[in-house]
Amino acid sequence: MARGVDGLEDVVAAETVLSEVDGEAGRLLIRGHELDELSGRWSFEAVTGLLWSGFFEGLPDNLQRPLGEARQAVFAQVAALDAELLALTPVEAVRALTARLADGDAPDLALRLVAAPAVFTAAVVRRQAGQAPLAPDPTLGHAADILRMLRGEAASPAEVAALDTYLVTVADHGLNASTFAARVVASTRAGLTSAVLAGISALKGPLHGGAPGPVIEMLDQIASPANARAWLEGALDRGDRLMGFGHRVYRVRDPRADALKRAVAALAEASPASPGRLALAEAVEAAALAVLRERKPGRSLQTNVELYTALLLEALAFPSSAFTCVFAMGRSAGWIAHAREQLAGGRLVRPQSRYVGPRPKAAA
Ligand code: CMC
Repeated sequence: MARGVDGLEDVVAAETVLSEVDGEAGRLLIRGHELDELSGRWSFEAVTGLLWSGFFEGLPDNLQRPLGEARQAVFAQVAALDAELLALTPVEAVRALTARLADGDAPDLALRLVAAPAVFTAAVVRRQAGQAPLAPDPTLGHAADILRMLRGEAASPAEVAALDTYLVTVADHGLNASTFAARVVASTRAGLTSAVLAGISALKGPLHGGAPGPVIEMLDQIASPANARAWLEGALDRGDRLMGFGHRVYRVRDPRADALKRAVAALAEASPASPGRLALAEAVEAAALAVLRERKPGRSLQTNVELYTALLLEALAFPSSAFTCVFAMGRSAGWIAHAREQLAGGRLVRPQSRYVGPRPKAAA
């Protein structure tokens, strides 16, 4: 199949006021703001308000308290976590709990759909570790409450800032696979819950939001900078992809990688829990870029968001099995904004396919 048709590369499938990914310049614009203006500076609640501005009526300017109340509201669903759901991966269990929310298009549902991955992830991780889930505290900011619900004690200001930075950094990113899936579902007028479930389902694949878990496995297996090159060459010899590298749109370094690397460095300075981890990641990054340059000279394969995502979420004590769920905590804000924008545009997304199969034989 022609490149461009296969994978819809270079096909423009929506007009959006939400975000622009400039793959040549390595820039991400979110509603008129450069990523660096928002990441590490704005709270996740403020960026959610920015993304949703004009797409809902009746939402207050400050979403901190309503989002806290939404966390409380969805916590009731945690009681449905039974042995069968707990045997699933965290993202599968979070998706199953999210599916218990009735469909609709109201702003309070939108808030509950952002609260859902946060509350359900903390509950699933705790239950899978044999601990009781903790109820949300609506007086806290979203990032602070997520870490408290996960660990059972207040996180440090540096840790809260790091998670807030992460959630803002991944909140929206053009027409990525999960956002496109959410827009397609929204275009059928199925409702916001369905659109978010489509987003979670597309996100969980290893080529999209499932990459950071395997990044940790890669770092653990490499273990020391001296092993990096041989390990990476072995992976490519086996035909594996290097997780945390390459992107459909970016031909230069993903700007989110820099934002998250800064957050990891700030966190390491505030609480040097595992010295050497950042240095190992930097050595692996340098070796991977060199090996990819040699092996794929025609492509510009650069570091994407997932390498430093993995390091950041590991430092915040999320288990690697739940990294995709944390991605969904941030991206849910973007999925919902895109779903509302798609609905406002009003048209069903219904492309065509070209039939290349056999045709019936003409009657004799
Ligand atoms: N490691 C090794 N080779 C790679 C990689 C990689 N990470 N990424 C692309 N390639 C190669 C690929 O094998 C292909 O080679 P060839 O032309 O010889 O067949 C060439 O580069 C182009 O690959 P492609 O599949 O056309 O690239 P794509 O634009 O469809 O893929 C990608 C984008 C992100 C799926 C891919 O780079 C990848 O699999 N990366 C690893 C997984 C990963 O880190 N995913 C997270 C993406 S960032 C989070 C997000 O925004 O979703």
